[in-house]
Amino acid sequence: MEIQFWREILEPYQLGVNELLVKFNHIIDECKNSGRYSPIESVEGRVKKISSILDKVQRKKLDSSEIDEKIEDIAGIRIICQFVEDIYDIVKMIHNRNDMIVKLEKDYVNDIKESGYRSFHMIVYYNVETLNGPKVIQVEIQIRTMGMDFWATIEHSLQYKYKYNIPPQIRERLSAASAAIIKLDNEMSSVHQEIRESQSSFRK
Ligand code: GTP
Ligand code: MG
Repeated sequence: MEIQFWREILEPYQLGVNELLVKFNHIIDECKNSGRYSPIESVEGRVKKISSILDKVQRKKLDSSEIDEKIEDIAGIRIICQFVEDIYDIVKMIHNRNDMIVKLEKDYVNDIKESGYRSFHMIVYYNVETLNGPKVIQVEIQIRTMGMDFWATIEHSLQYKYKYNIPPQIRERLSAASAAIIKLDNEMSSVHQEIRESQSSFRK
């Protein structure tokens, strides 16, 4: 497949990622400017590398005409927050927006993956305006706490190091680390809750 083919495929996804980064970063700014707490701590985005798209095309035995429909994560947005509760506030906010239509969601925060991975995943439809007219693309949005992101980042580099075949004893330690992060996330939420309660009783 040639360069022109890939340029046409990827262009709308790059636009989508750029626009969504502006929009989610703007939420952080709006909260800061109005002195409110931002459920979003930071946001990152990427367009999938051509080599990774090709891997998936092979793995899923896709025809090149099916790429747009069957590969849901060509555009990826990752939203990092402080507390587990923030994740569900962000999910609600995304449902309420009319520039994103939710196709599906996977709650790996409650249904933890076997690896120990936790995050809330959404696939949304998002419209972009290109030179060739409007195009609806799919975007994968991953929402996770800083703790969940810490774990996923380390586990991902280990997967890379061990060529996707992490030895069992390391797997066990990663599971234990995941459990420790659940405890940490819960403890942080509880501290946060107590601070908010004492602040509201102070104001009375
Ligand atoms: P695929 O993208 O084909 O794997 O589709 P899927 O339906 O299995 O998607 P899933 O929701 O399981 O995962 C999509 C993305 O979530 C991956 O590309 C990773 O970014 C992230 N992810 C899922 N599982 C893990 C995991 O065990 N460890 C880490 N570090 N990331 C994960
Ligand atoms: Mg997967």
